[in-house]
Amino acid sequence: MDVQRILTGDRPTGPHHIGHYFGTLQNRVKLQNEGHEIFLIVADYQVLTDRMETELIEQNICEIVRGYIATGIDPQKSTIFVQSQIPELAELTLLFSMITSMNRVARNPTVKEEINAMNLEDTVSLGMFSYPVSQAADILLFNPDLVPVGEDQLPHVELTREIARKFNRLFGDVFKIPEAMLSDVPRLVGLDGDNKMSKSRGNAIFLKDDEDTVMKKVKSAVTDSGREIVYDRAKKPNLSNLIDLYHLVSGKTIEDIVNLHNGDGYGEFKEALGQEIITFFKPFQERVLAYSDKDINKIATDGTKRAALVAKDMMSKTKKAMKIQYGF
Ligand code: TRP
Repeated sequence: MDVQRILTGDRPTGPHHIGHYFGTLQNRVKLQNEGHEIFLIVADYQVLTDRMETELIEQNICEIVRGYIATGIDPQKSTIFVQSQIPELAELTLLFSMITSMNRVARNPTVKEEINAMNLEDTVSLGMFSYPVSQAADILLFNPDLVPVGEDQLPHVELTREIARKFNRLFGDVFKIPEAMLSDVPRLVGLDGDNKMSKSRGNAIFLKDDEDTVMKKVKSAVTDSGREIVYDRAKKPNLSNLIDLYHLVSGKTIEDIVNLHNGDGYGEFKEALGQEIITFFKPFQERVLAYSDKDINKIATDGTKRAALVAKDMMSKTKKAMKIQYGF
């Protein structure tokens, strides 16, 4: 097998929820265990694009690192690092901003959507507008082959590829052209039936939620009229979402789940689903208890040191190619 270098990451805006687990975390662990070389960026500067509660960031960085470790990322094999601690990322962002047109950045559908969703049209910051350029630096500074992301991140990877090609054309081959890798699990629907599970929508179950919290959340999940347990996307979309979740955590087929709960009402069904979720995530919660805050800190520090070596080397190559590696 060819070992591929893989880079991906998260904004530290809060703890991971089960949507993250099935959407991306599980896949990262699988790639790691297949022997690929993984870099995970905790993109703390990117948090500042849409919020200024800076007092929460440090703790959220630790939450993210904890989530990686809990779900099976091995810090001996994979490199977890913190964006703001690699100054070359800011430097490369600046250089990339010189070869990227404002029009090109303005066409990014994900950024447009984010700006709309927050009603920021007239007040959007330069940092928010141009964060895909910073994300291109996050990626290209580590010269990965693959970038596993959700669908909403595809425009950023496309821009990254364009920047890499343009740089190589202007200054010679420095960057590999990385490929996006979409995970095959669709995005989990929120407990409120909304189309995306997310912390900000308050419709998520977190990996670290205790048993009572999981049960309470599952019991309050939105269902549909008619109490029988059937899988019918058109007539019972909300129940069908919950059955999908049941399938993911239990490994049982949809058919088996429906048969198992034949004759049950929503109450019994939700009780069983809550139990399956609790059982599925128990090993993760136990694993995380084995790590103190100090251990987590050390993992982030050691990972960042390793990432810094790659960053320095790539930055030096970049500047040499641009003929701005001066003698003074
Ligand atoms: N924008 C990504 C998200 O919100 C986080 C991120 C920052 C990222 N830098 C990255 C993802 C580089 C992949 C590669 O989830």
